[in-house]
Amino acid sequence: MDYENLLTERRSGADGALAVGIVTLHRPKQLNALNDGLMDELGHALAAFDADEGIGCIVLTGSDKAFAAGADIGAMASYGYMDVYLGQYITRNWEALREVRKPVIAAVAGFALGGGCELAMACDFIIAAESAKFGQPEIKLGIIPGAGGTQRLPRAVGKSKAMDMVLTARMMDAAEAERAGLVSRVVPNERLLDEALAAAAMICGYSLPSVMMAKQCVNRAFETGLADGVSHERSVFHALFATEDQKEGMAAFAGKRKPAFKHR
Ligand code: CAA
Repeated sequence: MDYENLLTERRSGADGALAVGIVTLHRPKQLNALNDGLMDELGHALAAFDADEGIGCIVLTGSDKAFAAGADIGAMASYGYMDVYLGQYITRNWEALREVRKPVIAAVAGFALGGGCELAMACDFIIAAESAKFGQPEIKLGIIPGAGGTQRLPRAVGKSKAMDMVLTARMMDAAEAERAGLVSRVVPNERLLDEALAAAAMICGYSLPSVMMAKQCVNRAFETGLADGVSHERSVFHALFATEDQKEGMAAFAGKRKPAFKHR
C-alpha cells in the first residue's frame, strides 16, 4: 500500500520466523510533524500489520533529524474549541496505536517533541539513537501536551522530571532519557534501525500469543492496582498452558533444541 506521509516495509524473518513490519514517518520538510493525514495513515498501516498473520512485531521510526517534531502546528493554529471538540482532535486517529496488540518498538533519532514524544511513549518501548532529543514544549505554544504526555511521561520518568519538562519545555537528551527510564537502550546513531530490527527479530522468534499476552499484562500494570494486576497476569499465565507453543517451548528446552513455534 502506498501512503503519502509514510513508508512501510516488511522485513522477512530468518528460518521461517515471523516478519517485522517497519513504518517510517515521512514528512521530511516538516520534520515529520503529525497532521491528520499522517495520523490517519499511521492508524491504517499499524492496523494492517497487526492483522497480518505473517507479522510478529512492528518498528516505528522517523528520520535521522526527527522522529517527529510534534503535532502539526500550522494545521492546528486556526482551530477553535468546537473544531477540536466536535472533530475529536487527537482522539479520532491517534488512539489507534492503543488498539495494536502486537509489540510496537519506537526507534527514535533526532527530535521527538510534543506529539512526537507522546507517539514514542505510546509505543511499547523506545530504542534511542545518541542524537535523540525528547521534550514536551507545548507550553511555549500556550497549550499543554494533548496526546497523553502529562500521563505517560510521569509514569516513565517520575513526577519531578515530568513536571520539569512539561513546565519548562526543556529537552532531554538520549543519555538522560535512558537514566530516567524513558528509553530502554541508547545506541550509536548509525546502528539505530539495525538494533531496533534485531530486537524485533528476537521477539518474532517467540510464540506470538505469548508475546501478545506479555504485552497485554505489562500494559495492565499501568491501568490497575498490584493485586488486580497480579491476578490478571496469573489468569493469562494459566491460559498459556492451553497453547501448543507452551508444549513445544518446554519440550524443546528439555530436548536441548530450538523450539518450532506455530503461534498457536
Ligand atoms: N508543526 C509544523 N511544522 C513544523 C513543526 C511542527 N510541530 N516542527 C517543525 N516544523 C517545520 C518548521 O516550521 C520548518 O518549516 P519551514 O521550513 O517551512 O519553515 C521545518 O519544519 C524545519 O523546522 P525548523 O526550521 O524549525 O528546524 P530547526 O532545526 O531550526 O528546529 C525544532 C527544529 C527545534 C524541532 C523546531 O522546528 C521546533 O521547535 N518545532 C516545534 C516543536 C513543537 O513545539 N512541538 C509541539 C507541537 S504541539 C503538540 O505536539 C501538541 C500535542 O501534544 C499533540
